Amino acid sequence: MFHLPITSLQAHFGDIDIYLFDQLLKGRIQKGMKLLDAGCSTGRNLPYLLKAGVKVHGVDLSVDAVRQVRELASELAPTLPADNFVTADLEQLPFESDKFEVILCSAVLHFARSEAHFQGMVQELWRVLQPGGMLFCRFGTTIGLAGKLEQLEGRFHRMPHGPVWFLADEALLSELEKQLTATRLEPLKTVLVEQERSMTTWVLRK
Ligand SMILES: C[S@@+](CC[C@H](N)C(=O)[O-])C[C@H]1O[C@@H](n2cnc3c(N)ncnc32)[C@H](O)[C@@H]1O
Repeated sequence: MFHLPITSLQAHFGDIDIYLFDQLLKGRIQKGMKLLDAGCSTGRNLPYLLKAGVKVHGVDLSVDAVRQVRELASELAPTLPADNFVTADLEQLPFESDKFEVILCSAVLHFARSEAHFQGMVQELWRVLQPGGMLFCRFGTTIGLAGKLEQLEGRFHRMPHGPVWFLADEALLSELEKQLTATRLEPLKTVLVEQERSMTTWVLRK
């Protein structure tokens, strides 16, 4: 009987986010789908998707990150056009409406510069998502941390590990869902990282 070596998981999936891995296990991302990694950085979440034949696009504010993610893509999916990976702010995406079947936005939205910027980014991601498509976001929130964080102005908080983050709460997410007429694909799932932060997974269907 053939046993797949457990060590091959790392070779296939690299450092993929465990909640994104959960979406793969649920079959929500398939070969040939047009997928945008919004705030892709150097592509931590992309090796498996690139190798699996997903039509990956990426966008990031950082020119250097986009250069590196293009290199990763040219190695793992040489037929993908380099200009699938572009530099832009999520608030103003250089794509037509309804383009993508899947959008990932992992560890980005808490870097919003204001509440309007947070909402602008979510609305722009929604604009470029196809009807029926899935938006998968993971970001810092106040869920489970009420009263335990140093609150600055509005929704900005000084995080125990140093930086200032914009933290949404459940009410803001529910309000946005109403505005977007989004369907939650699963309940909010939040992980409390001891003494540090609360990371919420928000998965919507358009
Ligand atoms: C912590 S990294 C996360 C990278 C990757 N998504 C992951 O999960 O590993 C955050 C990335 O978001 C990008 N970013 C932050 N704000 C952005 C914005 N408004 N528009 C586009 N990219 C942004 C940063 O340049 C950085 O590469």
